[in-house]
Amino acid sequence: LQIDSGLDVASSNFSSSNDTQELRRSDFPKDFIFGVATSAYQVEGAVGEGGRGTTIWDTFTNTPGKISDNTTAAVTADQYHHYEADVELIKELNMDAYRFSIAWSRIIPGIVPYVTLYHWDLPQPLEGNFGGWVNPEIVKHFTYFADTCFATFGDRVKHWITFNEPTQFCVNGYGTGLHAPGRTSDRTLSSSGNSSTEPYLAAHNVLIAHATVADIYRSNYKHQEGRIGFTIDCDWTEPLSDSEEDKKATERRRAFQLGWWLDPIFFGDYPSLMRQYVGDRLPQFTEAERSLLNNSLDFVGLNHYTTRWVTSQPLPLNPAQSNPLMDQGVLTTGVDEFNNGTLPIGDALKDTRRVNYYRDYIISMHQAIQNGADVRAYMAWSLLDNFEWAVGFTSRFGLYYVDYTTQKRYAKDSAKWFSNFLQYEDAYS
Ligand code: NOJ
Repeated sequence: LQIDSGLDVASSNFSSSNDTQELRRSDFPKDFIFGVATSAYQVEGAVGEGGRGTTIWDTFTNTPGKISDNTTAAVTADQYHHYEADVELIKELNMDAYRFSIAWSRIIPGIVPYVTLYHWDLPQPLEGNFGGWVNPEIVKHFTYFADTCFATFGDRVKHWITFNEPTQFCVNGYGTGLHAPGRTSDRTLSSSGNSSTEPYLAAHNVLIAHATVADIYRSNYKHQEGRIGFTIDCDWTEPLSDSEEDKKATERRRAFQLGWWLDPIFFGDYPSLMRQYVGDRLPQFTEAERSLLNNSLDFVGLNHYTTRWVTSQPLPLNPAQSNPLMDQGVLTTGVDEFNNGTLPIGDALKDTRRVNYYRDYIISMHQAIQNGADVRAYMAWSLLDNFEWAVGFTSRFGLYYVDYTTQKRYAKDSAKWFSNFLQYEDAYS
């Protein structure tokens, strides 16, 4: 590391006065320590970096009239980015020690981790010949992974999400083939409709894996005092017409979206509507599995993106126009286009529709809470534009626009809206 501090010891001329003998380091006890001191807030800068939380000195320096020259230490000597060179300076000074402070707000910064264990990226060796989620043996592999995470991170992580949107990876991974691993192998249309079995087998193993892991967490990691749940995706659905068929189709849709995952946990079996439509392709639970599953959720995450009109559709469906899980016998309509990834940045940053969506959603959620719904958290998808699975980068869900060439992030209007909406009125609250 090259630094040019301007310190040139050889040419400096520190003459001592004639009547005192020059005192030297060697006059001190051998183990005596000389050092230099700083403190985090005074020298670090980078107050918005690395997940650092706000401190009282940020608030104070941002309050007019508190600092005589009206400055803050938001950048100051920027040691956060220059610490290596600064350590060289300390060596150059021939100091033994550096007294600095550890910024509490960098270590315990106030951002709470909610951790998902499975968000679709199964290790390849567990697919291949093994068969991924269709193989019941996957339960023990997932359990080993989850157990490792609880043991390693459980002291800090208090919210665990075992599975994210299992409908998506079971149906699209093993039924339509739109998602990895892209299996469609047993999807053949018979006269009675879709005869796909793998999505249901995969889902069954996912449920057992969830329940097994929740049981281990609750019995072996009780002292960590965390919570465990999963997130499922569902739309708000309404019948397209007043017809009985459409109303029933809407119920079926809800059974296939919500009941598939929740009924086994809270009622001991898949919804009867599913049994009716899927028949013996839907696996049975053993008694042991039932009791393992029973109440194995501390919370449920609901991933909502849109509202859909539902209309009944006789089986067999035409695969080209149907929804992924064809056994439902429903068609849905509902569009949202505000994630268009091809817009020029200028337009993408003005994401008024996204702002309206978030605002309206949060208003409704607030009403629901006032009406007694037990809602504890809201997570926006997504922090950043990112890879949107089967559609790659053609869709941008972020609050921050990402320029994939420079990797620079740009706040969209929705980011500004959130920041403003979430600002604490009272800095000390
Ligand atoms: C929620 C999924 O969990 C996430 O992976 C996906 O990118 C978004 N929905 C948008 O489709």
